[in-house]
Amino acid sequence: MSISSVQNKVVIVTGCSSGIGLATARLFLERRALVFGIDVGAIPQKLADDHQTFTFHQANLTESRAVDEAVSRCQQQYGRIDVLVNCAGVSDGWSSADTIHEEEWERVMAVNLTVPIRLMRAVLPFMKEQNGGAIINVASKAGVSGASAGIAYTASKHGLVGATKNVAWRFHQDGIRCNGVLPGSVATNIASSVQMEHFDSAGFNAFFPVVQMHVSKDSEGTPVPVIGVDDVARGIAFLASDEAKMINGAMIPIDNAWSTM
Ligand SMILES: NC(=O)c1ccc[n+]([C@@H]2O[C@H](COP(=O)([O-])OP(=O)(O)OC[C@H]3O[C@@H](n4cnc5c(N)ncnc54)[C@H](O)[C@@H]3O)[C@@H](O)[C@H]2O)c1
Repeated sequence: MSISSVQNKVVIVTGCSSGIGLATARLFLERRALVFGIDVGAIPQKLADDHQTFTFHQANLTESRAVDEAVSRCQQQYGRIDVLVNCAGVSDGWSSADTIHEEEWERVMAVNLTVPIRLMRAVLPFMKEQNGGAIINVASKAGVSGASAGIAYTASKHGLVGATKNVAWRFHQDGIRCNGVLPGSVATNIASSVQMEHFDSAGFNAFFPVVQMHVSKDSEGTPVPVIGVDDVARGIAFLASDEAKMINGAMIPIDNAWSTM
């Protein structure tokens, strides 16, 4: 793939301070895009030091007005928005339909589903005016499977898959593409987003054998993910690029065949 395919594009990446979002922001910067990164966490300092074309905007995207403020700041700075990567997300504590707490449901749905939809709502007017744009939503294996997370995470990612397809069809005549990636298990900081007071060991035990089929094991038998953050970032960058210009409404598994089960 030619580097020029994302060169000079203005790219919003949410969740850019850690994990898949950080790797994605770095890859776009290396491919000479202009990256506007958003995260509730601290600035990824090395990324900012290494790349003058990186802008960081700190915000808790679930707060009212936070999405609109972030997008309007990006638009004011660059005058256009070519790519939106909805990557910020949190894990649930594997609660099931019989144990889910209201607060856990609201938190996971807000970050994983409401925020991406608000971001799409905020960027679409600019993309329509430009007659072009690409949106990539980071869903999950749990966006198409009922066996790989708790009920809140599973429902939020299934919702994001539906929203991705809806946006793809609705705006396909406006030159706007909307696709998603479905990563398998990836070593990131996502476990730190689990609220342990909502941890459901029975739900976790139902999930664990399923993920065991997909991960590798170290010499002591501890599960180790085989998918790296850069593997997911490359999939996202491909979907954002002109090489994928007729790929619209697709959900691409990045999981070394876990999706075949
Ligand atoms: N790690 C995995 O195994 C895996 C698998 C499939 C999908 N995913 C998805 O990948 C995406 C990235 O997760 P990750 O694994 O890199 O986790 P991570 O915890 O390393 O990164 C997530 C980032 O999102 C940010 N964030 C969370 N809530 C936010 C909010 N309200 N406002 C702004 N920023 C917020 C966090 O501060 C963090 O920097 C998520 O959508 C996750 O569901 C992860």
